[in-house]
Amino acid sequence: MDYARYDRVRAVEWTGKALKLLDQRKLPFDVEYITCESAEEVAEAIFQLVVRGAPAIGIAAAWGLVLAGKVIGEKSKQEAVPLLQLAAVKLNAARPTAVNLAWALARMQAALALAGEDWLQRLQDCAKDIEADDLAANRHMGQLGAQLIAPGSGVLTHCNTGSLATAGFGTALGVIRAGVAEQRVNRVFAGETRPWLQGARLTVWELQQDGIDATLIADAAASHLMAGGQVQWVIVGADRITANGDVANKIGTYQLAIAARHHGVKFMVVAPSSTVDMATASGSEIEIEQRDPGELLGYGGRRTVAEGIRAWNPVFDVTPASLIDAIVTEKGVIEQPNADKMRKAFGEA
Ligand code: MRU
Repeated sequence: MDYARYDRVRAVEWTGKALKLLDQRKLPFDVEYITCESAEEVAEAIFQLVVRGAPAIGIAAAWGLVLAGKVIGEKSKQEAVPLLQLAAVKLNAARPTAVNLAWALARMQAALALAGEDWLQRLQDCAKDIEADDLAANRHMGQLGAQLIAPGSGVLTHCNTGSLATAGFGTALGVIRAGVAEQRVNRVFAGETRPWLQGARLTVWELQQDGIDATLIADAAASHLMAGGQVQWVIVGADRITANGDVANKIGTYQLAIAARHHGVKFMVVAPSSTVDMATASGSEIEIEQRDPGELLGYGGRRTVAEGIRAWNPVFDVTPASLIDAIVTEKGVIEQPNADKMRKAFGEA
């Protein structure tokens, strides 16, 4: 397919000296970039959701470690390693749920371990590879996932899993892009994804850049949409897939999976193997990030809820494997995932 036609946005850009991040807090009305020149700045940008989405935060963290190396400068590998380890700890602490962050930093540290005095160049090469591998994985998953969709189908997605959340093309949104290109998908619905509105502010904007027609729905409209027979697949990304096939993803994913099963709508999870965490047995062991309750208590800087009201704001939830029809990674499709099939596909931790 013509990828350039369907993939026009980039969230993360390495300039050779610094990391440019498209500021996703400002979208869709302001397309602004921030420039990070240290690992600390990258960690803060990840925490503040300037850059977000599991693969994109892993890629940003990898470049963050390169920036730490540049700040360290012309030191020997022996002197640099402990300083780089400190930077990796800071980057890893920026957000807890998406395993891609730890995965990317572990891959960078493995490259460092094999490097000699050319350690900074090796780190740069590794960050570049992490980014390139993610883009390639997304394009491959797009093709694999689209093949599961019957021509003329409607799909519902949640959160933002597109170019903004990855190196490009996207995971779930990549499958939707490929499905539209192959005329398998002819209705796209996106949930607004309260409270941060990744769906409303990012996904429908991203699809608009591609000229893909999409309809925004309130998260609460999803069951009603399914009951009307408008969608045949719910297609989402993942922040962590555990050894038994459970999936942590944006809050609201779990209730979509329940509603999908009730209505006979299929449920697909699309994520690169960097999202698979075989060291965690099941979803109940995943740390679910809690964010500022203020995200629920106001909008656009203005309070919308009476003073004195408390709010609870977990930003991910866990969908049990039993509610998932297919997990698509670049390694292939796992239908009706369980611990056995996961072990066969990804081996032991
Ligand atoms: O809090 P966010 O916006 O980083 O959450 C993102 C999601 O939950 C995505 O669905 C997930 O990371 C997959 S992105 C390809």
